[in-house]
Amino acid sequence: MSYLERTKKSMELFEKARKHIPGGSAYSIRYFEPYPFYVSRAKGSRIWDVDGNEYVDFWMVHFAAVLGHGYRPVIEAAKEQLEHGAHFGWCNEWEVKWAEAVCRWFDVDMAKPANSGTEANMYAVRLARAYTGRRKIGKMEGGWHGGYDGLHKAVNYPYDKPSSLGLACVENIVPLPFNDLEATIRIAGKEDLAGIILEPVLGSAGVIPASEEYLKGLREFCSRRNIVLIFDEVITGFRHPGGMQNYFKVKPDITTIGKTAGGQYFAGAGGICGTAEIMSLLDQVERPEFWNRSFHGGTYVGNALTMRAGYVTINELEKKSGEVYSYINSLGEYGRRRIMEVLEENRFEAYVTGLLSMIGLHFTREKPFNGLTAERTKNRELSRKLFNHMLQKGIVYQRPETPHFAVSTAHSMDEMERLVEELDTFIKKERG
Ligand SMILES: Cc1ncc(COP(=O)(O)O)c(C=O)c1O
Repeated sequence: MSYLERTKKSMELFEKARKHIPGGSAYSIRYFEPYPFYVSRAKGSRIWDVDGNEYVDFWMVHFAAVLGHGYRPVIEAAKEQLEHGAHFGWCNEWEVKWAEAVCRWFDVDMAKPANSGTEANMYAVRLARAYTGRRKIGKMEGGWHGGYDGLHKAVNYPYDKPSSLGLACVENIVPLPFNDLEATIRIAGKEDLAGIILEPVLGSAGVIPASEEYLKGLREFCSRRNIVLIFDEVITGFRHPGGMQNYFKVKPDITTIGKTAGGQYFAGAGGICGTAEIMSLLDQVERPEFWNRSFHGGTYVGNALTMRAGYVTINELEKKSGEVYSYINSLGEYGRRRIMEVLEENRFEAYVTGLLSMIGLHFTREKPFNGLTAERTKNRELSRKLFNHMLQKGIVYQRPETPHFAVSTAHSMDEMERLVEELDTFIKKERG
């Protein structure tokens, strides 16, 4: 049965949705042609749409669900918390436990929750400005840090186009070429930067890891120039014990987190953490005058439900660290190797990127190492065709134009092999 035939309820929902939700979807990236399926249930590695179709999910809540959908210890804790109250609008013990867990995980002094990854980055940028007294912020071409104006430049290719209508203050953003240390230092060196923010693994550009030399060089440059180095570990923070900063052994001044840190499925997943010296600029006890402090807050910030879900998630990851990471990393490694084998066997030009439990596939004519090289020769049409092929076979991921796959503890070797086999079938069909 075709997608149109088996997703009639989704089609109706989309038609209804378009009347009241611009684009028919809460978040534009969840839309694909001709209309998205609407999910009613998720468990483990699987999701089911409103028509009852089952899919193997390699998107996993925007890469948040390291432990799979509906992970029982988190769900049980959240249910109990709902009974006590999801949010009180007062301080609660879970924010304290969460902050302790985050500090332990990243080996940092202090942490504060934020309502999303976007908010975390917004406050991190403000902190960098507060700390240095400077204004400009360096960010990577192709780097995505959420919809905050202060970082919303050079996100989508071509990078010289505005990343959205209605932006202000983008003149303070300095786009930098990821993984090109010489050019980065040349460009950044001409500016009076307050901070440089980057994902140690460029996420939405297709999971492209930084080289260790790049991160170390950037760290050295920032220290020398007293620039605040911010790692956006919203995706990567819980894909390795201690985050990518521990994997690469490069310590940023501020780390921003989200997604997994808020219990994988809960609104309000975000936070910033770092050294006491910088984080104390947020401290209203030490700095009672508002004009002498960097503001941070929000109605739902630190709500007990998200804090408890996040705390339980981090606790589980700590307790089961050995088995969790050896499993998802070996599955990620296996997937990357098998995809490369399929490409080689078929003599098909495409490239595999990624690290640990993250896999990227690029229909490009060069091996991508940053935003520009992932975009300039990309065959978008072919990427979309692959997406449709997989959709037809009950395998889903994001995004149609930039395939990247999140591995969780709930995925099996069989599911990974299914993905690889369907890629093989697709390529053979394409080659004719
Ligand atoms: C690396 C990175 N930073 C920040 C964000 C923004 O987080 P949120 O969507 O929770 O605002 C995202 C979201 O996809 C992300 O991938």
